[in-house]
Amino acid sequence: SYILSSNMSLAKNQYMSDVWKDGIFNNKVVFCTGGAGTICSAQVRALIHLGANACIIGRNVEKTESAARDMATIRPGAKVIGIGAVDVRKFDDLKAAAERCVKELGAIDFVIAGAAGNFLASIEQLSVNAFKSVMDIDILGSYNTLKATLPYLMESGKKHKMDSETLQPFPGGTGGRIIFVSATLHYRGMPFQAHVSVAKAGIDSLSNSGLDRLLPSDAKAAYIKSQPLGRVGHVRDIADATVYLFSESGSYVTGQTLVVDGANWRMSGGF
Ligand code: HXC
Repeated sequence: SYILSSNMSLAKNQYMSDVWKDGIFNNKVVFCTGGAGTICSAQVRALIHLGANACIIGRNVEKTESAARDMATIRPGAKVIGIGAVDVRKFDDLKAAAERCVKELGAIDFVIAGAAGNFLASIEQLSVNAFKSVMDIDILGSYNTLKATLPYLMESGKKHKMDSETLQPFPGGTGGRIIFVSATLHYRGMPFQAHVSVAKAGIDSLSNSGLDRLLPSDAKAAYIKSQPLGRVGHVRDIADATVYLFSESGSYVTGQTLVVDGANWRMSGGF
């Protein structure tokens, strides 16, 4: 009905633009660590809207499974599985999750390595174990995610390779791609975020900042005013970049750090 479709498009518009064609990720599978979290769930939701099935990974069983159930309602026929009790620091956990994903959904075409640890702490407050925990979750966790999914990603990449002679684009769509979610803290350094800055320097890719969590509202208003684009980033911005990178449009982009931050980090005192 009209009401249903207009409600659906409103919901869709919360985390993605309407510029992307329906169905571009039909029959594709995305595997995402941290997939129940604020940023990664928006990335996965955008891909589901455009046809993908998804496997989201998390440490918290209830949170992960309930996010997966909710995501499955986004598009009729969408298959979404949530695998909880997975610690990205443990390679065997991820290997088992990747195997289950392939068994239940048939493949892994895209990976989003999004699981991360974060809290504010000065160097004085930060214990050696706290620093190590963030390194292990962010850097080792991203590596483990890559390592556990690589055989499937390579298989998908081979299947969806562009013909370099004819430049015929991607039979059956794109595949074999991974995004590591990062930040810009380490471009300038950030007080209370030394551990995360070091970790993100190791990952160095896409991310967004937790403004609501970190700033009081009056500081937030001043911050927004000072931004080059006059607004703060939205998870939708990250979701749109994700769609671009995983689509045919992004097929010639590789090994790059795509900063989606409205030029924030370039400003003096950037956040
Ligand atoms: C100081 C802290 C702390 C805090 C934990 N620790 N929280 N130290 N301040 N707020 C210390 C603990 O005391 C302990 O050290 C060590 O860290 C390990 O903590 P554990 O509780 O044992 O848990 P663990 O399972 O290892 O998990 C650690 C964790 C994790 C990193 C705190 O629970 C976590 O990440 N939670 C938040 C997840 C999150 O917000 N993710 C979104 C990331 S957003 P000791 O010495 O006592 O043993 C993101 C974007 C970045 O990454 C850009 C933002 C601008």
